[in-house]
Amino acid sequence: MYRTHTCGELRISDVEKIVTLSGWVQRSRKMGGMTFVDVRDRYGITQLVFNQDMNTDLCDKANKLGREWVIQATGTVLARSNKNTNLPTGEIELMVDELNIINAAETPPFTIEDETDGGDDIRMKYRYLDLRRGSVRRNLELRHKITMAVRQYLDKQNFIEVETPILIGSTPEGARDFVVPSRMNPGEFYALPQSPQLFKQLLMVAGFDRYFQIAKCFRDEDLRADRQPEFTQIDCEMSFVEQEDVLLNFEGMAKYLFKEIKNIDFEGDFVRMTWADAMKNYGSDKPDLRFGMTFVELKDLTAGGDFIVFDSADYVAAICATGCASYTRKQLDELTDFVKRPQIGAKGLVYVRCEADGSFKSSVDKFYTQDHLKTWAEACNAKPGDLILILCGDEMKTQKALCELRLEMGSRLGLRDKNVFAPLWVIDFPMFEWDEESQRYFAMHHPFTSPKPEDIPLLESNPGAVRANAYDMVINGVELGGGSIRIFDSKLQSKAFDIMGFTRERAESQFGFLMNAFKFGAPPHGGLAFGLDRFVSMLAGLDSIRDCMAFPKNNSGRDVMCDAPSRIDNAQLEELYLELKQPNK
Ligand code: AMO
Repeated sequence: MYRTHTCGELRISDVEKIVTLSGWVQRSRKMGGMTFVDVRDRYGITQLVFNQDMNTDLCDKANKLGREWVIQATGTVLARSNKNTNLPTGEIELMVDELNIINAAETPPFTIEDETDGGDDIRMKYRYLDLRRGSVRRNLELRHKITMAVRQYLDKQNFIEVETPILIGSTPEGARDFVVPSRMNPGEFYALPQSPQLFKQLLMVAGFDRYFQIAKCFRDEDLRADRQPEFTQIDCEMSFVEQEDVLLNFEGMAKYLFKEIKNIDFEGDFVRMTWADAMKNYGSDKPDLRFGMTFVELKDLTAGGDFIVFDSADYVAAICATGCASYTRKQLDELTDFVKRPQIGAKGLVYVRCEADGSFKSSVDKFYTQDHLKTWAEACNAKPGDLILILCGDEMKTQKALCELRLEMGSRLGLRDKNVFAPLWVIDFPMFEWDEESQRYFAMHHPFTSPKPEDIPLLESNPGAVRANAYDMVINGVELGGGSIRIFDSKLQSKAFDIMGFTRERAESQFGFLMNAFKFGAPPHGGLAFGLDRFVSMLAGLDSIRDCMAFPKNNSGRDVMCDAPSRIDNAQLEELYLELKQPNK
């Protein structure tokens, strides 16, 4: 038997017991004739003690132990004279009688402690060592707890878990597919699912009524802190439901998870905000509602100042940063540089300081009178001591930039506390998005999303104005999940395909099997999918979803540990009927 207890288990009530522990050497210290070794496993750390006077050979053996050696120690549990209140086992130690070196180890390339000296690259290369660190392991333990709670909740609600295939044809989710060549079907490719979307709809046609899956999804898109090429969804679908049923059910699930995992109760229903209001007031379809600082449109109020920059802009809008009138020149320059970054793209930043004496100081003083500035301050509900920040330009681009500035100011003012959670549903998304480049409409969510019944007449006259039965759950500025009520009427579906410029043949070749299935009695249905990685990192307070994945990819989509992707040899290429072109440098 390797152990009688784990390294996190022994307490003062175990004193005098003879026990055996197994684990990894965290560190060892020699103090006079005594040697102390911390032994670690998944459950904790226990201090082992060796006494030179009592057993010289054993102590010599202990002195030779290196970091991360795997050992087994048997001895008697003693009460510690020098208690360590930071450790759950800190009241006891193990006086060792027998030490067994199970496996010696090379010195690890970084220290395996919560605070490590290892940089990102080295930690990812040796991820199995990184995962030994408590701080990383705890994230995966939390992920497990959340996954179990999800299964419990959905099982109670009669959802059944069904696995769907990984080798499929392309699904219309909008990102690029990862593809897999088929040896048995030369020249043909599978795609990895961007989500199980079509399969879950087929399961509704099959009468499964309520489906879920903790599903791996694959999208070949540019990576960000909340995006990985391979990620996990809590994917769900329900039959005989309207939007309200879906929202209530999954709001229930989110509340259940917050209660189970963080013991947080949300009072009342989640806020519901239309997409149009979210864009108008926050410049984003995933607004962070932990703080206000909503947009105030100033276009009308800026007229008549002969300030060509405002006069020639489609859109002029402000946010009011409470108590920031004291911002120095340097701080304002920093903010200007911030909004001018290429990824944010504003041309400049106009400020108005609301001084304590009721006067205004502004970067556009030359063009506007104090009375003018006062009307802006009133519109922004700004008080003496506040700072008004204004951007202008093309409406969509400026809203996006002002959204970034708002988030930046929220962070600077400490308004984005990770322990505060502000959930909402964003609803009434537009059904279509116009793409300038290809001069056609795309489905904003996906091609099977249904229009709001009252907007169906607009499909003919003004498709851009049609709102969809689509919704996202957003918490703290992160889109945690999204879904829609689907079209199940083939005439309406053909109409939608027409608007998106699909020919009959293309619709048939991409979605023929689903369209066909709908001819055999499709129930009304809808659903949504949560990003599990995003949910876990939100509940764990992490900055990146990578930290709650066991083996994530880096920013270039590489797994540096197993060195993937990698070349394959010519024999493999030949088997797959593939020839490689040299990539353009
Ligand atoms: P959608 O594309 O909105 O919807 O995805 C659902 C949720 O999945 C998460 N997510 C991601 N997480 C990590 N990395 C990524 N690259 C990534 N992409 C998406 C987000 C997102 O809210 N089939 C539909 C759902 C439906 O209509 O039922 C779908 O996939 O949290």
